[in-house]
Order: sequence, then C-alpha cells, then structure tokens
Amino acid sequence: MKDFKKSTVYQIYPKSFYDTNGDGVGDLNGVIEKLDYLKNLGIDYIWLTPFYPSPQVDNGYDIADYYNIDPNFGTLEDFEKLVEEARERNIYIMLDMVLNHTSTEHQWFKKALNGEEKYKAFYFFKEPINNAEPTNWESKFGGNAWQYVEKFDEYYLHLFDKTQADLNWDNEEVRKEIYSIVNFWINKGVKGLRFDVINLISKPEKFENDFNGDGRRFYTDGPRIHEYLKELNQNTFGKHEDIITVGEMSSTSLENCLKYSKSQENELSMVFNFHHLKVDYNNQNKWELKACDFKDLKMLFNEWQLGMEEGWNALFWCNHDQPRIVSRFGNDRKYHKESAKMLATMLHLLRGTPYVYQGEEIGMTNAYFTNINQYVDVESLNYFRILKEQGIAEEDIYKVLQERSRDNSRTPMQWNKFLNAGFSDGKPWLSVNDNYNEINVEDSLKDKNSIFYHYKRLISLRKEYDVVAYGNYVPLLNENNNVFAYKREYLEESLIVINNFYETEVTAVLDIEELESYKCIITNYEERNLKQIFSLKPFESIAFLKIN
Ligand code: GLC
Ligand code: CA
Repeated sequence: MKDFKKSTVYQIYPKSFYDTNGDGVGDLNGVIEKLDYLKNLGIDYIWLTPFYPSPQVDNGYDIADYYNIDPNFGTLEDFEKLVEEARERNIYIMLDMVLNHTSTEHQWFKKALNGEEKYKAFYFFKEPINNAEPTNWESKFGGNAWQYVEKFDEYYLHLFDKTQADLNWDNEEVRKEIYSIVNFWINKGVKGLRFDVINLISKPEKFENDFNGDGRRFYTDGPRIHEYLKELNQNTFGKHEDIITVGEMSSTSLENCLKYSKSQENELSMVFNFHHLKVDYNNQNKWELKACDFKDLKMLFNEWQLGMEEGWNALFWCNHDQPRIVSRFGNDRKYHKESAKMLATMLHLLRGTPYVYQGEEIGMTNAYFTNINQYVDVESLNYFRILKEQGIAEEDIYKVLQERSRDNSRTPMQWNKFLNAGFSDGKPWLSVNDNYNEINVEDSLKDKNSIFYHYKRLISLRKEYDVVAYGNYVPLLNENNNVFAYKREYLEESLIVINNFYETEVTAVLDIEELESYKCIITNYEERNLKQIFSLKPFESIAFLKIN
C-alpha cells in the first residue's frame, strides 16, 4: 500500500498526451506506451482526466455515460490493460469523477426531457419567475446559469455549460446511482479518485437571487456537503483502505477544507484549493490581467500550510484549467530552466501531496495562440465573445487569452523534435506549441541538468526524507518581499527551503542556529553552504537538510 504523504501524482490529459493511431487525439494506448517514461520520473499515481463517452463540449467534463470509455480514447479492455501495466510499474490509476453534473446527452437527462418525472427529479428544473430565469446566478463559463426548456416552460440549472446539467444530490436515488458508478471503477482496480468541483454538489433549499455576487455563495460548500461526502465515503471508497481521494474545491474556505480532509472526519484524503492561483487576477476577475502579487501569494501559502496542519493539501501549480506556471510566475525565456526549477522546489517541499501536470516536468510553456481559430476551449470561446461585447479591443482580448486560456495547458505533449512534437502522425486536435524544438522530452532526458531531472529528484526526496512528507511548517523571512522561505521539522530532521521569486539578485538574512550542520540537497545553480547572509541569483532556489 502506498503512503499518499510520500507520493506524487502525475496528471494526464489523455487527449493531448500521446496518440497511437494517428487520428490526432491522444488515447489510452498512448498512456500505456509512455508508462516507462513516468516510471523513470518516479511518480506514484496517474490521474486521468475524463475519458468517458462524451459530446466533448467541455472536453469530457460533460459525461454521457459513466460506465464506458469514449471510442476516441479506446475501450474498457484498453483501460484494464492500463491498470495492469501501470501496477506492474508500481503506479496506480486515479480517475476523474464528474458527479456535480451530467452531459445533456446522458440518458437520464434525455429521459427527463421526455417528461419522465423520475428523471426530471435527477436535476433542478424550476419554473420561471416573472417570466424570467429563476435566479440571477451566473454560469462559470459566462451567461446565466439557467437554460429554458420550452416544452415544460421551465428552466434547468447548469453551473457550467448549458450542456452540463447539475445533478440533484438531495435526491437519494441520484446518490445511489453515484455510488454504483464509483464502485464500478473501484472494482476495475482504480486506487485513486479525483472528485470534480465536488464542493458544489449541495444546493440550497431555497433558490434566491444574489444581489452581491454571482450566486456562488449559495451553493459553494453548500448546506449538506459534509453529510454527502461522508455518505459517499461510507458507501464507496471508505470500504477500501488503499484508495486515495482528492476533492476539487471551487472558491472554498480553509475551515471547510480542514473538515474535508481531516482523517477523523472520514470525508476525503486531500483537497485542491485555488486561492494561490488568483493572485494575478485583477479585482478577482480572471479576464483582467495583473502581475503576480507576491505578498499575497506568500501570505496564502503560509495561511494554508499552517491552517491545514490537521488536514491535507494537494500541492499544485498546473492543471488542465490553468496556464503554464513557468510562463505565469516564472520567465519562460531568459530564465526558463531556473524559474521552472525554482517553482518546482518551492512547491514540492511543502507539506501536502504534489501534483505534476503533463509537460510541467519539462517546462512546457503557454501556447501564445494568435488567432481565435486556434482555440477550442468552450470557456475561452465564450469569453472571447463576452469581452468583445463589452467593447474590449480584439488585440487586448488576445493578450488576455494568451495568459489565461485553458488551452495554454492543453496543447499536445512535446515528446521530440519531429512531426507534431512526436505527439501524433495525424493533425493534432489542438495546435502544438511552436517551441517544441527547444522544449521536449527527448532532449530533457539527455541533459542531466534538465528540469525533468530536477522534478525526478524532488519526487525522490519526498520518499527519502520523512521531513518532506510529515514535517511541520514554519514560515521564514516573512518580511522579505522577494524570497519565499520556510522550514520543516520532523523528529531528527530539519529542512530549510529558500526561493527567489524574482529575476534580480536579492539578499536574505537568516536567523538560524547551527548553520554549518546543514547540507545542500537540491538547487538550481551550484551547490553551496548555508550562510547567515544569503545572496540569491535570479530565481535561485536551494534547500538544506540537517539530521541530528
Ligand atoms: C472542473 C474541471 C474543468 C471543468 C469543470 C466542469 O473545474 O477541472 O475542466 O470544466 O470542472 O466540470
Ligand atoms: Ca488516437
């Protein structure tokens, strides 16, 4: 059995990972072919984003059938083979469970539209109020969150796209269906579960207008959320000791996250929160650019590291919804390697379970698309239109999309210098990033100094030293406006991690005893000794360990 505190999870977006049959879409066999690469990196779990049958309006987060594999990705046999082949390499599979909503192509929704009351009660159908939407809530992808169905003269709720109808978890029959879905995959040998936007499943009893916001305060960490998670736990993964779970928590609070992830609560193993990835939103608006607010970033990490001492954080910079971190908080040109490694060290040596998103380990960058036709993501396309309607100039909208679009992280994995970066022999469903000549797996594996080997070392440090996995967290250099530093302690081991987030040289003054007994264990420049007054090169990052 794996210890999730010593483990690292690798996220695969199958559509963009590796295509084995030349149709331009990555597939499960592609994942199988690359397992040795992942074993070399040293990861423990592979989180696969949804591969279920789906109209792909939201790239698989709109599920039409929970019990099968979309033919674009392969078959159930391919999946079973993947589980088996991964296990042989001591890697386990984590699946993405999208249970807040189904596609409107799901048979439940189709039956609901046919007027079957049983299935209408699976969703939220509501009558108009004053001939309009039941509430003014906004969809997370833009526009109102209610879609009109003429036939019933009613609206249904969709917090995401209008083809993603929210399920009614207050209906016990829905919850039972959900347990059988989760158990189906557990029986297929899955050892990890990632629950999509799971803190949105409990809607309020009364639906009311939000005059101070977009409605999220009514359904985020909703009234029965803890009850539903406990029940889900008891009826599915809680019966198995060796299954780890992570909940994606949208706009959540620390207080709720503690409860979600405290082991005594029997809810989940750990949680993703996104507060640290909003420090470059202007007025909390994703579509308004602002430079990273480093003070805020530091404050948030300190708050969550300390506040979650009795819970457990999932640690991440990147995923399929976020731009690439090296382009975002680093410098993807002049200090590509240095900043990518610094960001990795800073995150991986924190308390929590690190997640690596495909391509992050070779420093893949944002896509920098220049034409709207290159974008595929539903959210990006919606906001292109919405921002235009707001009168924003097209060239400014492009600037925003180049920084914020979810397609930045979804471009095909860059395997080598050949056709389509070695991703596919056919035309990729999304353009390959032009920089694959400089950034690709093949070259990374040949260069002992590459970002890849830095990640590999970080992943192994977590296994090697208990302090990385179990140590407490002590913020250091709180007042320093450039450096993020912290200490971790566990039994005989002490770890000090120092990171310069800027491309200028900066100085850190440390107040630490027994400096001479600390040894450098990882750095992105030359190894050196710990000193009281420490000057750091651009994006320099260095960690020291002392064992008593
Ligand atoms: C999560 C997924 C995202 C998806 C949304 C709706 O945030 O990560 O990709 O669009 O949920 O399912
Ligand atoms: Ca394919």
